[in-house]
Amino acid sequence: MKLSVRSVYKTFHHSHRESTIALEDLSFDVQAGEFICLLGPSGCGKTTLLNIIAGLDKPDSGTVLMDGKEITGPGRDRVEIFQEPALFPWLNVLDNVAFGLDCIGMPRKKQAPKLGQYLRMVGLSSFRKAYMHELSGGMKQRVALARALAIEPDILLMDEPFAALDAQTRDMLHAELQEIWAKTGKTILFVTHNVREALVLGDRVLLLSARPGRLKRDFRCELPRPRHIEDFALIEAVRELLSDLREEVLAAQQKELEHEKLAA
Ligand SMILES: Nc1ncnc2c1ncn2[C@@H]1O[C@H](COP(=O)(O)OP(=O)(O)OP(=O)(O)O)[C@@H](O)[C@H]1O
Ligand SMILES: [Mg+2]
Repeated sequence: MKLSVRSVYKTFHHSHRESTIALEDLSFDVQAGEFICLLGPSGCGKTTLLNIIAGLDKPDSGTVLMDGKEITGPGRDRVEIFQEPALFPWLNVLDNVAFGLDCIGMPRKKQAPKLGQYLRMVGLSSFRKAYMHELSGGMKQRVALARALAIEPDILLMDEPFAALDAQTRDMLHAELQEIWAKTGKTILFVTHNVREALVLGDRVLLLSARPGRLKRDFRCELPRPRHIEDFALIEAVRELLSDLREEVLAAQQKELEHEKLAA
């Protein structure tokens, strides 16, 4: 098993309001090379979960095991990619992609074949000298992806990486990401709000309930790849998951209303 999330609980304490239980008794397993999409209403704890797996945060109780060993902090075997790609404007594309390898002191000569390979993989070879302000949103996400891949982690943790992009760019990146995943065999955890996106990308879609996040549904999607958001075969699966998700979004809104009433 690549990743085992075992009975994870996480509560945040605030000074100005009652505590927030973000994750409650969350458990699931991920096999090596699986593409997992995490779907759930806003605030249900998806980012919290990714941060715990990245080792940036700790559960209050429960454990997360990677290859059977408990995760106790960040590591090069896991890399997170965010909605807003955190790129360095003063570095060009090549230097951004090289950043992680520079940090561990790998000489550029040794990096060169890797950098070439991953820049080609994301289709940015001819933009290696460009700076971030010269790139579109989709290109910036490609740089972030190449930078993550260059470190050669086992697990990619992607937190709504395409949410800010236009539909055409997102479609293109869906195709590219499926291709890259097939080529590299990475294990991917991909957070999204979008049911269609989850079903285009995921081998499994884990639906989390409204806060506190618990596993409501572990949905296996075996449609043939490459998948496209317009595929007719996706429609039935989308309908089924959407009705589950809607229940959770309504439950989340209801909880927020009750909370406001109590606070008033
Ligand atoms: N550092 C923190 N301090 C206090 N509360 C936090 C912190 N991080 C998250 N929370 C709370 O925990 C809950 C879960 O947050 P989280 O960001 O994981 O949700 P999410 O599912 O990623 O939401 P979204 O889909 O909007 O990104 C929220 O109620 C949030 O307010
Ligand atoms: Mg989030």
